[in-house]
Amino acid sequence: MTEALLEVKHLATEFITEQGVARALDDISFHINAGETLGIVGESGCGKSVTSLSIMRLLPRPAGSIVSGEVLLQGQDLTRLAPEEMHHIRGNRIAMIFQEPMTALNPVYRVERQLGETLVLHNPQMSKDEIRAASIRMLKRVGIPAPERRMQEYPHQLSGGMRQRVMIAIALLCEPEILIADEPTTALDVTIQAQILQLLKDLQQETGMAIIFITHDLGVIAEVCDRVLVMYSGRIIEQAEIHTLFDTPLHPYTRGLMNAIPRLDKPAKQVLSTIPGMVPSLFDTPPGCRFQNRCEYAQPQCRATTPPLEGDSDQHQVRCFRFRELMH
Ligand SMILES: Nc1ncnc2c1ncn2[C@@H]1O[C@H](COP(=O)(O)OP(=O)(O)O)[C@@H](O)[C@H]1O
Ligand SMILES: [Mg+2]
Repeated sequence: MTEALLEVKHLATEFITEQGVARALDDISFHINAGETLGIVGESGCGKSVTSLSIMRLLPRPAGSIVSGEVLLQGQDLTRLAPEEMHHIRGNRIAMIFQEPMTALNPVYRVERQLGETLVLHNPQMSKDEIRAASIRMLKRVGIPAPERRMQEYPHQLSGGMRQRVMIAIALLCEPEILIADEPTTALDVTIQAQILQLLKDLQQETGMAIIFITHDLGVIAEVCDRVLVMYSGRIIEQAEIHTLFDTPLHPYTRGLMNAIPRLDKPAKQVLSTIPGMVPSLFDTPPGCRFQNRCEYAQPQCRATTPPLEGDSDQHQVRCFRFRELMH
């Protein structure tokens, strides 16, 4: 097997809060290969964003920190890098886009300056004209019409879809090997969402970058991903190649998520089931399987012991004592 581009090993991240210590990630391990799109899916609060912030070393300090594990970028452990070294990795080798472009864009800068500052940061030798030309080229590449005019606008003058395109342009300026996209289309309407997903696919074709695509929506996962991790309460509970996951979901939680995908061939009300019950609080996690209180198959063993993540990490893995019975 060739070395993975990024390999996360036994990652644990905690937050110190007034209520105590919250272990938001508990023994997270996965890998992503060059050019691959890996999806991370799960309900709100399961640890998707904390996973991306841990990889980027952007956890809110001092409350949040990685307490154990490794994040290996081509074998180099990012958790051990000095802040300046990590600064160089961010933007150059790993870039990130997220749900609300307004928080990433500076509201008082024109589009031109937002791109220009990123370019200068990573290419101090570039002249003003070169920066302007490179910025226009990038805006064209992400499908922004009349880029010369758009360069003079402020973020609030752009539509949500255009703002997201500007954020993608900024993320791609330094040709990252990995793009982490954290719910990049969640705030957009369906048509614009489809356009942004297509844009990301096209850009990936051109550049060969790997994408970690984070969403709560399995429908979006089906559109873009090669492989998927399903997270629940800070743990990976299933991971599989995309077709395998949709053909043979093994974890009862994954099956629940699948049943919640709206379908065109049935009236929405008839199929849209939600999984009864709630995600346990991180301050009050039960011993054993974290899904036990919502699982119709839970047995005494599930309440006593945490099931291991079993299987082949390139094919299909599941964290459930009863998956063999559920396969039939
Ligand atoms: N700044 C924070 N302070 C304390 N706890 C946090 C903080 N950010 C996240 N958490 C905890 O980590 C859990 C996972 O959060 P997050 O990764 O943002 O979820 P999501 O899967 O919706 O992206 C939250 O439910 C919360 O308990
Ligand atoms: Mg999130």
